[in-house]
Amino acid sequence: MRSVETVLVLLAAVGIAACATQAPSQGTSASAPPPKLGKPVSERELVAWNIDIRTPDGLGLPAGSGSVQAGKKVYEAQCLACHGEGAKGGSMFGTMVGGIGSFTTNTRVLTPGSMYPYASVLFDYVKRAMPMNAPQSLSDDEVYAVTGYLLHLNGLLPADATVNGPSLAALKMPNRDGFIVDDRPDVKAVRCMSNCAPISAALAKN
Ligand code: HEC
Repeated sequence: MRSVETVLVLLAAVGIAACATQAPSQGTSASAPPPKLGKPVSERELVAWNIDIRTPDGLGLPAGSGSVQAGKKVYEAQCLACHGEGAKGGSMFGTMVGGIGSFTTNTRVLTPGSMYPYASVLFDYVKRAMPMNAPQSLSDDEVYAVTGYLLHLNGLLPADATVNGPSLAALKMPNRDGFIVDDRPDVKAVRCMSNCAPISAALAKN
């Protein structure tokens, strides 16, 4: 509920910004009071909204922890209906286990274990989007626990493991080095803010 309110507040804030920039063209005089829409976003609201995690080093992973065993319970109560027994595929989605090493074959099996370069991607995804019928309803401890359980089902953690931010960030995923770094010249371009050369010249330099 709080996240819905936060989004509404943010939308209201965007609305104010949009009105402010449009005001002159609508013929409002410079001294007219601003429209009374929304309210400032408080730090507390912003913290609840900002759940971004920097996946390579786990910056932004919250405090808390969860065991694989606790994660099994979370999974069975909140995920099994759509993802199936042992996350092997259910009514709404295919398997979330296995496939490790399949990327060099013609029959790739995409799962968090086989695909994700960082374990924190799994935490971030679940925290943000799952369970699909009630996203962001799990506590951080529950997200850690179910993340640990899925990593365990993929053979990446023992059954008695407990995960937290530092241990997730430290876990080397099998596909960590399987991604190709984008080497197009424009991704390295330095942003120019004034007196900029035409883009063609900037590209020629790279
Ligand atoms: C109501 C059905 C439903 C429930 C309940 C649900 N999921 Fe999902 N889940 C989905 C669907 C559908 C997708 C695919 C979403 C997409 O591709 O955009 C998905 C995708 C995922 C993925 C991404 C898999 C991949 O290969 O990248 C993960 C991880 C995941 N769910 C974890 C969970 C966890 C953990 C829970 C329980 C806390 C859960 N889900 C509960 C329907 C559900």
